[in-house]
Order: sequence, then C-alpha cells, then structure tokens
Amino acid sequence: MFFGVNFRVQKQGFGVVKVNRVFSGIQPTGEIHIGNYVGAIREWVRLVDLYDCIYCVVDYHAITVEYPVEELAKRTIDTALILIACGLVPEKCKVFVQSAVPEHTELAWIFNCITPVGDLERMTQFKDKAKQHRKNVNMGLMDYPVLQAADILIYKAGIVPVGEDQVQHIELSREIARKFNSRFKTIFPEPKALLSRAPRILGLDGKSKMSKTLNNYIGILEEEKSIWEKLKVAVTDTNRVRRYDKGNPHLCNVFTIHTAFTEDEVLMEIENGCKTASIGCIDCKKVLLEKMVRELVPIREKVEKLKGEIGYVKEVLHISAQRCREIARATMHEVREALGLLNLHFKDLQTLK
Ligand code: TYM
Repeated sequence: MFFGVNFRVQKQGFGVVKVNRVFSGIQPTGEIHIGNYVGAIREWVRLVDLYDCIYCVVDYHAITVEYPVEELAKRTIDTALILIACGLVPEKCKVFVQSAVPEHTELAWIFNCITPVGDLERMTQFKDKAKQHRKNVNMGLMDYPVLQAADILIYKAGIVPVGEDQVQHIELSREIARKFNSRFKTIFPEPKALLSRAPRILGLDGKSKMSKTLNNYIGILEEEKSIWEKLKVAVTDTNRVRRYDKGNPHLCNVFTIHTAFTEDEVLMEIENGCKTASIGCIDCKKVLLEKMVRELVPIREKVEKLKGEIGYVKEVLHISAQRCREIARATMHEVREALGLLNLHFKDLQTLK
C-alpha cells in the first residue's frame, strides 16, 4: 500500500506517455455515498492526468448477494453516469461494465486453480458478508476477491486506488500475481493499493463503515435539506456530552468527514475550536454541510444533465469496453500460452490488428 503518487510519466517524442496503469471498480448500487466518493472516486479523478486509468462497474460482483434482477441494468447505468459526472470522462480514462469484457471471468477461473480455499475463507469481507447473508453463502461470495484480482491483472494494472476495506483484497491480488508468475511465467505486475486522504469513512452512527446496506450513509446526490437531516444527528466524539465539554476531533467521525471536504486552514480552526470548546458540534456540522454542498452540487447538476443523454453514456461504456477487451484478449493469449493450453485464439487477435 502507498499513500503518495509519484508523477511517473516519461517525456517521449512529442508528448507525455503515461507509463503505469491504474484500475479500480465499484459495485452498481445505482447510488454512491460519500464514503465511496472520498475513499475512492475522487482519487480516481485525480489520477486520470497521471496514468492510464481504467474504471469498472463490477456487475458480476454484485450478483454474489441477493439483488433485484429487474433493477440491475438501470443501477449499472446510473452508477456509470455518476462516475462520468464526477469527472471520469471518456477523453481522459475508460469507464466500462465488467460483464462486457468476459475475459475477466475467464482469468478468474485460472486464478481459482492457484488460490488456496483457506486464503479466501480468511478474507474479512467474506466473513462479514457470510454472516449478513447466512442463507446464501455461495461460491461467488467466497470467490469475490479472485474475480477482483482478475479485474486488475487482466490489464496488468500496478496501482489500485481503493478504500481501506479493500486493502486485504489487493494484498491477495499481489499474492495471486506472485504465485502465477513463479509457477508459469512472469506476466503480471504485483499491484499496490493506493489510499486516499480519507480511506475509511464511518457511517453516521460513528460505529460501522459507511455503507448502503447498513443505511448509515449520505448519498452524493442528496439535497442539502436531506444531508442536514442526517448530519445534525450524526454521532460525534461520544465523550463530548455538553456544549462546554472539550472534544477530541480525532475520535470524531464528523471531523474525519471534514478532513475530506474542508480546506486545511478551516480544518485547523475547527480542530482548535473543538479542542477548546469554543465551537459546538452543531457549529462544526454547519461548516461541514457548507463544504459538502459546495462540492456535491456541481456533481448533482451534471448527473441531471447526463440523465437526458443516456445514449451518450451507453456509447461511452461501449467504446471503453471495446478498448478494454483488446487489452484483455491480448493478456489472455499470453496466459493461455503460459499455461500450456492449446492456444487457438491467436488468429482472432491477429484480425484485430
Ligand atoms: P464497492 O462498490 O463496495 O466500493 C467502491 C469503493 O469505495 C470504497 N469505499 C469506501 N471508502 C472509504 N470509506 C467507506 N465507508 C467506503 N465504502 C466503500 C471501497 O473501498 C472501494 O474502493 N470490491 C470493490 C469493487 C471491485 C474492485 C475491483 C476494486 C471489484 N473489482 C478491482 C478495485 C479493483 C468494492 O469494494 O466495491
């Protein structure tokens, strides 16, 4: 895992060539909360000028738990639309849907054959989800991180911007890459997780991770009034009971959210104000509301506009998937060769050129 990003571009000939590839993914919930946004997506946007970036709406991951079948396609489009509205525009990066590039699942199968079951049983997310979905602990749920490794490695991506909850999965991807390389042939880089400034946003209860499933979230498309309704009752430093008690911002989830939305000078004022009790929690939350609205309103406006341009959104997804598929097919060709399979697919590859 690493925190800073080296500006790893090389001047070549006339322009700048991006030399490292970034990959990340998000499930198609159709709604994105501020945890997803500050933990991952905002970082994705920052990286598009530095690296060759590929971002994916991971619909095959979403079917590992019960879901409303009739809503999945719409949620997938809505999620992609929000990503584009956040600034992941086709001029700068690729945004596509996982099921449009079947090589992901093909590579996952191969990785299944080198991944010990014990490694998957140990994954924290698997254990949590198995508890949440006791009646449907299916193979896909356990295999989730293997498909995630395939998502990343099919593009030979070296950098994976994610929230803290995904670090364990990226570590597993590294191990899978290492094992494949040593057993067959060195094909894959060992990817690293890249954490943002706010890699772990707790829910408004201040206890568990902010998530849609737990309904403890603020959505990035919510109106100011609705954000305030949630924010004003959000749990802060539980030791600060009365207005004149001195608080500890570092034990306060609202302050953590502040660090993601508020500029440093104001943040220092808030921090001091809380520590000295010169401001109360409601004052602090009002400033946060203002900073959040400042950042989220333009995204909401862009989303509204794109809703009238669904044809454009579908076209972006289609063209990106085509480009990604070319890369994925080339990797699969190498992989089949390394595995000693009868590799007849090379003809398809030649016709692509
Ligand atoms: P998903 O959809 O659950 O989450 C998308 C991204 O949001 C981050 N995130 C958070 N960050 C900070 N605080 C939170 N409360 C919070 N909640 C979510 C997640 O860490 C993630 O970066 N398994 C992935 C999807 C995936 C993927 C991949 C990611 C599939 N294949 C390949 C990277 C590379 C996931 O957690 O999605």
